[in-house]
Amino acid sequence: MIEFLRKIRRRLKHRLKAYPIYEVVKWMLQNNYIQNKSVLEAFANTGEHQAPAYYPYASYYEAWEITPALAAQINSNLPKAVVKVTNSMEEINRTTRQFDVMVFDSHMGIFGGVYCEHFDILPNCFRAANNEVLIIMNVMPYAEAKWKTQYPTVFDAAHLVRRKQFYGDAFDVNQCTYDEMIAFYKQFFLKHGYQVTDYFFHQRHLLHYLAIKAVKLSA
Ligand SMILES: C[S@@+](CC[C@H](N)C(=O)[O-])C[C@H]1O[C@@H](n2cnc3c(N)ncnc32)[C@H](O)[C@@H]1O
Repeated sequence: MIEFLRKIRRRLKHRLKAYPIYEVVKWMLQNNYIQNKSVLEAFANTGEHQAPAYYPYASYYEAWEITPALAAQINSNLPKAVVKVTNSMEEINRTTRQFDVMVFDSHMGIFGGVYCEHFDILPNCFRAANNEVLIIMNVMPYAEAKWKTQYPTVFDAAHLVRRKQFYGDAFDVNQCTYDEMIAFYKQFFLKHGYQVTDYFFHQRHLLHYLAIKAVKLSA
């Protein structure tokens, strides 16, 4: 019963465009970044939380999810999705497809015992990117005390070690601004052969969306 009511609430919120993802979608639509694009959702879950906001605009939509039991729900929520039950950290190194849009809605902090935020997938994703690509991921510029209380592993010692390994000395990994963060990603993308041409930040809750549009330098 509770799950049924949650589903109704979710559908209503999507109908009212009441989720933070709709601000990102508005920006994508204004700039023609999502219409008729091939989209990879690398951490798909059931496909009912944020994907319904942009899935309708995709010409091709592929969903990767590590939990086999969720595949049927993805198929039911997003009928045209090509669903792969797979470890996205490995799949990103073997897919033969190239995508216009890649969404990395991974867990916050450390997950799966070894992975952290988008740090393990982002460096390897460029081989699966088209010459023009839009990458949408979660970032954590800071964590207010209330979030650390609610999610005790967020910004704990192990998480901060991983953040420091990824961001190096670009900024204080406990607290940074959007400007500091985008400066880091511009350099990161350049190292991988892509020039950032546009970006958009939008706060979800503890997580913030960062959408980055980039073009391949040799293209
Ligand atoms: C935060 S949820 C994604 C929510 C989804 N984007 C949505 O809007 O409904 C993260 C999902 O990633 C999956 N996941 C975790 N590690 C994974 C991995 N290595 N490869 C693929 N999926 C993974 C989890 O099972 C979970 O369903």
